[in-house]
Amino acid sequence: MHSDIEHDYFVSDVVFDSLYPIYVRELSEIHWTPLNVIKVAAKFLAPDDKSKVIDIGAGVGKFCIAGSQYTKGSFTGIEQRKNFVRVGNKIISELGYYRASLVYGNFIDFDLSGYTGIYFFNSFHENIVPSDSLDQKIERSPELYTTYTQHLLTQLKAMPIGTRLATYWLDLTEIPACYRLCWSQFDNLLKLWVKEY
Ligand SMILES: C[S@@+](CC[C@H](N)C(=O)[O-])C[C@H]1O[C@@H](n2cnc3c(N)ncnc32)[C@H](O)[C@@H]1O
Repeated sequence: MHSDIEHDYFVSDVVFDSLYPIYVRELSEIHWTPLNVIKVAAKFLAPDDKSKVIDIGAGVGKFCIAGSQYTKGSFTGIEQRKNFVRVGNKIISELGYYRASLVYGNFIDFDLSGYTGIYFFNSFHENIVPSDSLDQKIERSPELYTTYTQHLLTQLKAMPIGTRLATYWLDLTEIPACYRLCWSQFDNLLKLWVKEY
């Protein structure tokens, strides 16, 4: 059990990352969203306590954990690396942050319906730039990039009007036209969208 005062973990990324094992901390600078970006994105995605946010490719749960503390919404992460899900859910359970959870699985089998907000940190990128891969544990290929991206675009189009979307470091040139770009921040890396039709 982590016994420190809970908000102490959010003082800086380095302090937050200290919750995790060393191999996870080493991935943080490149692969996990910084806390100042999470704060802006989470407040946009979860304006009230009915908000249900999904992080597609959740890693060790940094976005879900911090988002659940910056807002009153609930945050679920889908993640294909089992060790990340195990590490993240252990910390969630130790901290008692029950509005955050991680689910083990591949996004290709995942249905976004029921969620009011979607977060996407360019999670499929490692399929087209192998040097950006987090580890060698999963299959990667340009074909998988196309398959995952198509699944994402199809699901985005099927979401109800009013769905909120936050993208970070996104390579995709096309967010469907039915999403209006409302705001961008952090040198345009974070983009906030709402589905209009
Ligand atoms: C750049 S990290 C982002 C982590 C987290 N969203 C954050 O912002 O801190 C992308 C994550 O997506 C996961 N991922 C990539 N493709 C996936 C897929 N098809 N299904 C589930 N998870 C996936 C990777 O394993 C990795 O942990």
